[in-house]
Amino acid sequence: MAISKVGIVGGGLMGHGIAQISAQAGWDVVLREVDDEKLAKGIGMIEKQLGRAVEKGKMEQADADAVRGRINGTTDYGELADCDLVVEAMTEDLDQKLAMWAEVDAIVKPEAVFATNTSSLPVIDQAASTSRPDKFLGLHFFNPAQVMPLLEVVQTVTTSEEALALGNEFGGQLGKTVVAAKDKAGFIVNRLLVPYMLDAIRAYEEGFGSIDEIDVAMKGGAAHPMGPLTLADFVGLDTLNSIAQVMFAEYAERRFAAPPTLRKMVAAGWYGKKSGKGFYDYSGEKPVPTDLGL
Ligand code: CAA
Repeated sequence: MAISKVGIVGGGLMGHGIAQISAQAGWDVVLREVDDEKLAKGIGMIEKQLGRAVEKGKMEQADADAVRGRINGTTDYGELADCDLVVEAMTEDLDQKLAMWAEVDAIVKPEAVFATNTSSLPVIDQAASTSRPDKFLGLHFFNPAQVMPLLEVVQTVTTSEEALALGNEFGGQLGKTVVAAKDKAGFIVNRLLVPYMLDAIRAYEEGFGSIDEIDVAMKGGAAHPMGPLTLADFVGLDTLNSIAQVMFAEYAERRFAAPPTLRKMVAAGWYGKKSGKGFYDYSGEKPVPTDLGL
């Protein structure tokens, strides 16, 4: 089945980026959020990125306008009805995702393919809750979706070859490097990256270095674009904490356990860059390490 319209459920950190690149690839996009405020925020992020691309001379104003024109924001699931592909990019909470699919499955045309951008939940748990487990797969993007080249494509035990082919073609047309990942919690990247970020927090708790020393060390010593604590703030500490909970529940291994510092920061509402405070305070001109009293 050829794709002409893509639905994205969730316009946050990941969803707005997936909506933007889908529209840039030429598809009509329906971006669904829970309320007008969240929708305006998601659309605002897309407009900001398109504006930057024009400023930098990477895109003509007319093309940016055309991309924006292909994105239809809504709070109504009904607008997704004639989408060929619906990609879920909600918070990492299985119950919320299942409640959403129950509604969307009843509205969207039966031949459409569904995908989850989950970072850590096994895909089969969502696929099996719908009436179309053969047309359900994982499409795992990386933040920022506009820039990161990888897409993990996840086939569950029920995903048909046709749905898998559609997912691969979607990724290819977005210009992503597509890697087939097994339906194992965390897939390939988060199986390796999440323990690394959690371990950086433990190294900090154990006094191996200060926040910025750990980041500077990994940037300079391993040529990473961001140090692990900056990256944790960038991913979102609430998201990292949720991923850790899911992976620890699945594998019962210490490397996936959320360190106490992470859990306390999330309890305090310090979600990292998006909330203005995490391992760094982002309120000034430059991020400043937060005094966590350790
Ligand atoms: N949208 C669009 N473009 C963006 C962008 C965004 N949100 N953020 C950065 N860019 C673009 C910039 O416009 C710039 O483009 P040009 O080179 O054409 O001018 C380019 O990316 C580089 O950006 P900057 O110069 O501002 O900054 P940088 O060189 O430090 O790069 C970065 C920023 C690309 C984010 C880089 O720091 C990086 O790669 N960091 C690591 C990101 C990472 O590991 N992501 C994965 C997180 S894990 C995950 O997402 C999975 C999960 O399930 C948790």
